[in-house]
Amino acid sequence: MNIVEGRLLSGRPRILNGGGPPGSGKGTQSPMIKDEYCLCHLATGDMLRAAVAAKTPLGVKAKEAMDKGELVSDELVVGIIDEAMKKPSCQKGFILDGFPRTVGQAQMLDEMLEKQGVKIDKVLDFAIDDSILEERITGRWIHPASGRSYHTKFAPPKVPGVDDVTGEPLIQRKDDTAAVLKSRLEAFHKQTEPVIDYYWKKGVVAKLHAEKSPKEVTEEVQKVLS
Ligand code: AP5
Repeated sequence: MNIVEGRLLSGRPRILNGGGPPGSGKGTQSPMIKDEYCLCHLATGDMLRAAVAAKTPLGVKAKEAMDKGELVSDELVVGIIDEAMKKPSCQKGFILDGFPRTVGQAQMLDEMLEKQGVKIDKVLDFAIDDSILEERITGRWIHPASGRSYHTKFAPPKVPGVDDVTGEPLIQRKDDTAAVLKSRLEAFHKQTEPVIDYYWKKGVVAKLHAEKSPKEVTEEVQKVLS
């Protein structure tokens, strides 16, 4: 990821963390990037899960696709991102996590940003072999209220099944099964990999070795953003 005009204009980068398959570590690395660069962090997956839990009209429309491991329609997702990016906290820089996931979403994002006179500075490509992902996905446990994420083997909580901070129970995501992962990976290869090519042509992609340990991946992220 190259820091380009957006940073010069704003002093803070605009980063996309969408280039990586399920379980590649996007959600693990985003909080670190958010804190280090004082960015607003918008994760479309988290926003959609909140809408599903609240049974909003958007959530009702999104639920079926999410349960099957398919992508939600571009119009729905671009609508929630457009709305969220208007928040004052997102005006000086943002990290988009899990967005854009189709070339159509990327083009719509470009149009939105052009109106604001800014550009994407870096796109993080979490490159990883599919064979590593099933263990990561099926071992993940989350604390729904905070979004804190654990892994039975790679990042276990102090007490199994319990959030370290609140002591509340952890849950597994409904789509974190080996069967649904297959569909999610199919969607990734078919619809999201072309997005990485789209940004390669713009010269803003930084490829990460996402199979490394979380700490090593963090160091790679810091290097490409420095
Ligand atoms: P979303 O919530 O975005 O899910 P995803 O892309 O499938 O990504 P994950 O959250 O599963 O993985 P991650 O890369 O964040 O991994 P994590 O860091 O947690 O999307 C869900 C659904 O919403 C989609 O299927 C779709 O239906 C819909 N949707 C969302 N955005 C959309 C969009 N733009 N357009 C259309 N539909 C959209 O890591 C996973 C586990 O591995 C954790 O337990 C972690 O502790 C562990 N781990 C992380 N890094 C490492 C490491 N380096 N080494 C070992 N373990 C690690």
